[in-house]
Amino acid sequence: MSTENIKVIVRCRPLNKREISFNAQNIITINSNAGQVIVNSPDKTKTQNDTPEEHFQQIFTFDKVFGTQSMNIDLFNQSFKSVVQAVTQGYNACIFTYGQTGCGKTFTMTGEQSNVGYIVNSFDCIFDYISTLPNSVQIVLKASYIEIHNEKIKDLVTNLNDLSVNESKELGIYVGNLSEHLCYTKTDLQIVRQDGYKTEIQLQHA
Ligand SMILES: Nc1ncnc2c1ncn2[C@@H]1O[C@H](COP(=O)(O)OP(=O)(O)O)[C@@H](O)[C@H]1O
Ligand SMILES: [Mg+2]
Repeated sequence: MSTENIKVIVRCRPLNKREISFNAQNIITINSNAGQVIVNSPDKTKTQNDTPEEHFQQIFTFDKVFGTQSMNIDLFNQSFKSVVQAVTQGYNACIFTYGQTGCGKTFTMTGEQSNVGYIVNSFDCIFDYISTLPNSVQIVLKASYIEIHNEKIKDLVTNLNDLSVNESKELGIYVGNLSEHLCYTKTDLQIVRQDGYKTEIQLQHA
């Protein structure tokens, strides 16, 4: 477990077809070694009124940055894996994916057949770990799948709406009436994921 509890990583996606169709310019460069995203001002036709300030460059530094050619497995091995491994050591962990619509959240979480995202990579990592344990060690793995949208919590497996956030001495903070599904194998876990994902797709929130 690293000494820092929170890490912020940035992934820049390539221009999409729509952006290419109207000749959008890529104004981002990254410096992987320094963990920096460099935002350059767009090229403009120089006018008499141009000031140096109009051709600025802004540099933002993060724990890690990934460029347009990065593969999901690279992100997993270099960033997410340690978070998942921390869980196997008894820590609570969270991978939070944030960004505007179309920036690549689903691509990073779910990915494509030949470039699977961190959800599948996490499942593999967890079960790889379990397979290394002696038979005398018992593991209980339960999965839940919820959506928080417009301040409302929905269980995507049971379709139960309006779940409440509760707190108790024994459990800490928890979601009331949330279904938990015992998973003995990777397939069990994949089934929970598929069931929840079907509901998620039906809801079609951006
Ligand atoms: N790193 C990437 N490389 C190639 N294509 C990407 C990448 N990130 C996103 N895309 C593509 O951009 C589009 C929007 O991405 P998506 O993951 O659906 O965004 P979000 O879930 O954040 O709304 C999709 O067509 C996706 O395939
Ligand atoms: Mg999405």
